[in-house]
Amino acid sequence: MRFPVALLAVLPLVGLVLGQTITDGQNNATLDANETTVAPAAQPVSKDSSAAPADLFTSEAAQLTDNVIANLTALNLTSIDLFSFDNGSSSTDGASKRDSGSCKSMPGDVLYPPNLVWKVFNLLLGGALIQTTPLASPCYTNWNNYDAGKCSYISANWANNSFMHADDPTSVMWPLYQGLTCMPTTTPSDSCRLGAYPSYAIEVRSVYQIQLAINFARNANLRLVVKNTGHDFNGKSAGAGALSLWTHNLKDIQFFRNYRSGTYNGPAFKLGAGVQAFEMYEAAEKQGVTAVGGEGKSVGVMGGYLAGGGHSPLSSIYGMAADHVLSMEVVTPDGRFVTASDSYNKDLFWALRGGGGSTFGVVTSVVLKVYPKMPVTIATWQFTTSPTVSAEAFWSGVRAYYDEFVRFTDKGTYSYFQLVGIGPGAFLFAMAPFVAPNMSKQDLEALLKPMFDKLSALGIAATPQYFEYTSFKPAWENHFPLESVGSATLKTASRLFPKANWLDAAKSNATFSVLRQTVESGVVMLGFNIAAAPTAGFPDNAVNPAWRNTVLHAICGVIWPEGSSPDVIAAQSKRLTNDVMQKWRDVSPGAGAYMSEADIMEPNFQQAFYGTKYDKLYQLKQRYDPFGVFYAPTAVGSEDWTVRDQIDGWPTQNGRLCRL
Ligand SMILES: Cc1cc2nc3c(=O)[nH]c(=O)nc-3n(C[C@H](O)[C@H](O)[C@H](O)COP(=O)(O)OP(=O)(O)OC[C@H]3O[C@@H](n4cnc5c(N)ncnc54)[C@H](O)[C@@H]3O)c2cc1C
Ligand SMILES: *[C@@H]1O[C@H](CO)[C@@H](O)[C@H](O)[C@H]1NC(C)=O
Ligand SMILES: *[C@@H]1O[C@H](CO)[C@@H](O)[C@H](O)[C@H]1NC(C)=O
Ligand SMILES: *[C@@H]1O[C@H](CO)[C@@H](O)[C@H](O)[C@H]1NC(C)=O
Ligand SMILES: *[C@@H]1O[C@H](CO)[C@@H](O)[C@H](O)[C@H]1NC(C)=O
Ligand SMILES: *[C@@H]1O[C@H](CO)[C@@H](O)[C@H](O)[C@H]1NC(C)=O
Ligand SMILES: *[C@@H]1O[C@H](CO)[C@@H](O)[C@H](O)[C@H]1NC(C)=O
Ligand SMILES: *[C@@H]1O[C@H](CO)[C@@H](O)[C@H](O)[C@H]1NC(C)=O
Ligand SMILES: *[C@@H]1O[C@H](CO)[C@@H](O)[C@H](O)[C@H]1NC(C)=O
Repeated sequence: MRFPVALLAVLPLVGLVLGQTITDGQNNATLDANETTVAPAAQPVSKDSSAAPADLFTSEAAQLTDNVIANLTALNLTSIDLFSFDNGSSSTDGASKRDSGSCKSMPGDVLYPPNLVWKVFNLLLGGALIQTTPLASPCYTNWNNYDAGKCSYISANWANNSFMHADDPTSVMWPLYQGLTCMPTTTPSDSCRLGAYPSYAIEVRSVYQIQLAINFARNANLRLVVKNTGHDFNGKSAGAGALSLWTHNLKDIQFFRNYRSGTYNGPAFKLGAGVQAFEMYEAAEKQGVTAVGGEGKSVGVMGGYLAGGGHSPLSSIYGMAADHVLSMEVVTPDGRFVTASDSYNKDLFWALRGGGGSTFGVVTSVVLKVYPKMPVTIATWQFTTSPTVSAEAFWSGVRAYYDEFVRFTDKGTYSYFQLVGIGPGAFLFAMAPFVAPNMSKQDLEALLKPMFDKLSALGIAATPQYFEYTSFKPAWENHFPLESVGSATLKTASRLFPKANWLDAAKSNATFSVLRQTVESGVVMLGFNIAAAPTAGFPDNAVNPAWRNTVLHAICGVIWPEGSSPDVIAAQSKRLTNDVMQKWRDVSPGAGAYMSEADIMEPNFQQAFYGTKYDKLYQLKQRYDPFGVFYAPTAVGSEDWTVRDQIDGWPTQNGRLCRL
């Protein structure tokens, strides 16, 4: 067995005798820590080299094993069975819990683990347990950490600095679903409450910590959430009373110039679960290759993004990001660490690529295939209504772009645009940006010429700016600024409109007029002209089939005034779901929506987010997670659960999670 050098630094801790007594303040119970000879609870394990060509990262080699559990058991430590693997017996517990309709345990419950057990847990974790301090708590006096300076920094960065949220163990970027219980404030005497922030988080550095947490959550009936960056549009990494696995610091990156597995033989990266888009693109640039990832700079690639499918500025030529996964390492709900690939745990591998995050396990790393470096040309332009451009002319200008959606994506391009009202009868269209992979400026000018000719004929002066790059990374970096997050006054929803709507003149008209009416009614719209069915094909995975025939992923959002009452928020939220979005659904019957940028209240979410893949995904969920360790709103199997004490129209994770 070969052990990575860095792991040797961890090893002296194994077998360490700690000369300290742990006292439980509440019950005066004591644990003689002299007996805790295994801390952290890890054993170095090397990979069965037949499973996948890539070695385990150091963080993955430190594992919780049956030997470690046997040692802990032999010490007769209090409650040590709470950290044991499932050995087949607890699946019956899972079934009985399901039958009795029971709820996850919350702090304050009789059966919630006492402080002493959390102390043992922290010891076994090597001290990685963090009790939650909400990010904005320094703005309040009731958390005993009031700090005007910190508060002003947090307030100033709340909406423009997604890195601040990603770097915090529990902050989420869509606080609406957290319950808005601790937003930055200038009234320190207000009360900051945990709301849907988890009670505890683990700063994950090694696989054994994930295994301990999954076992503990399963055996103690705790709600478990996984937070990578917190970008999820539905705040899926929040959960009241939960234990959270914060995977953000799993940053390893390894490059393989020639990775061989199955029929693949070419360049690939193995990337830790916490690697963010900007880090992956930097690594790819350095190695002279192109990686398929999203536009959002701070989005985590290996977590919710890949699990949801992952759309990319390169999707029209290469497909979804999930199509490029060659293998994954994952801790499953029974606490075991396994490889999922085309040859190992194939079903799990299928489900993890599109079936959604926080559902089948915790991914610790991903091997992604990459492509040769290629040139990219960017174009940007915008236009508005004006004294010389009437609203009719404006919409005809938008139509000139819309009419090209099929031709553009057939050429492999991607474009990201905004349509917003800027006053009564006044509108703005902004292209930010149009991405033409593997195209020169001349090619792109030729592609766009018919459209710009139409704009000129309409009297719309929309002079495009072109930018040529020799590789993807600078093109992406210069044209996708960090986006705003953290809003308490916005709810979004989305739709994947099928290409068929462009191939039929009547449908095309109907679709355009619905989108136009939406924007005219004051709803903000973002759109992606994108396809995900490359001519070279794509693998069979769990990606929503609606992605394979779309040419428009459109997002819309309703806003309400700051400080609105829960009733106003709920009413606007329902208007979006039931009124605005119903019109979108009516012109695209049977189509779907992208789960990672979706309406948390999407009707029939199973069909919309998973399409025909849902039945198989649900069966796999029962097989891999009969205990219900993992839950997230709109995740596969989430219909079997409910979050209690919710305002109709404003579902948050701020309530007890119970089986239906
Ligand atoms: C500004 C912005 C830009 C975006 N740009 C794009 C884009 O270009 N393309 C695109 O497709 N999407 C984009 N998204 C949406 C993005 O894909 C989702 O928000 C996605 O859920 C983010 O994943 P995360 O792991 O970073 O976030 P998190 O919110 O931390 O996690 C999302 C979900 O995945 C689960 N999860 C996280 N890590 C793991 C893991 N290791 N194992 C198992 N489950 C895990 C979480 O529990 C949660 O349910 C963007 C979002 C924002 C806010
Ligand atoms: C733990 O071990 C130390 C050193 O052997 C000893 O001094 C101490 O009394 C022990 N603590 C308990 C609670 O037994
Ligand atoms: C814990 O100890 C304190 C004194 O040290 C005592 O007052 C209290 O009653 C004890 N609590 C329990 C639950 O025994
Ligand atoms: C189990 O305990 C024995 C005796 O203390 C020790 O030698 C061994 O390394 C331990 N094994 C693990 C996996 O911790
Ligand atoms: C644990 O308990 C068993 C049975 O009660 C006992 O035989 C054994 O000596 C105990 N081990 C330790 C380390 O105290
Ligand atoms: C395994 O299951 C049996 C019951 O079938 C139980 O008694 C035992 O404690 C379990 N062992 C572990 C390590 O969970
Ligand atoms: C966010 O805005 C604040 C206040 O305007 C500014 O100081 C900070 O640099 C900005 N941060 C980012 C990442 O843009
Ligand atoms: C990029 O263009 C070159 C030359 O036109 C072509 O050979 C290559 O196949 C293209 N690559 C992709 C991914 O389309
Ligand atoms: C679509 O709308 C255009 C005008 O925008 C009109 O000329 C055309 O007849 C319409 N086609 C159908 C099939 O409705």
